Amino acid sequence: AIERTFSIIKPDATRRNLTGKINAVFEENGLSIVAQKRIWMSTAQAETFYGVHKERPFFRDLVTFMTSGPVVVQVLEGENAVAKNRELMGATNPANAAPGTIRKLFAESIEANSVHGSDSPENAAIEIAYFFAGTEIVG
Ligand code: CMP
Repeated sequence: AIERTFSIIKPDATRRNLTGKINAVFEENGLSIVAQKRIWMSTAQAETFYGVHKERPFFRDLVTFMTSGPVVVQVLEGENAVAKNRELMGATNPANAAPGTIRKLFAESIEANSVHGSDSPENAAIEIAYFFAGTEIVG
């Protein structure tokens, strides 16, 4: 089915001017960018967004990293968009990511791993609503 997923191009990637290369991977693989904006996340925004990880040892560093520079928040649309995007991103740790995936190609580390993608359609809906008004999404 046609689905939407939420994506973030993270600070390590915007810093290296990789927005276009990452977007090309999405567009060349059947995902359309139906909403997109470049923002600098506040600490409060990053803490809320990553709230499920707040007890994890890497939480504080993750929030610091995600607020260290601009990010590009996006809504991607296409057939099985959630799973498709996770396949295109590759494993969280670039050391374990398959050849040709975004994280294998571009990620610097498990933290500075260039992209975020929703892990389920339910979380996609929550994450999209956190960053976008309905009127900002043009399918
Ligand atoms: P993301 O998909 O955005 O979701 C949580 C993020 O935490 C993850 O990508 C990584 O960038 C970051 N992270 C940092 N350290 C770890 C770790 N040890 N395990 C999982 N995620 C980590």
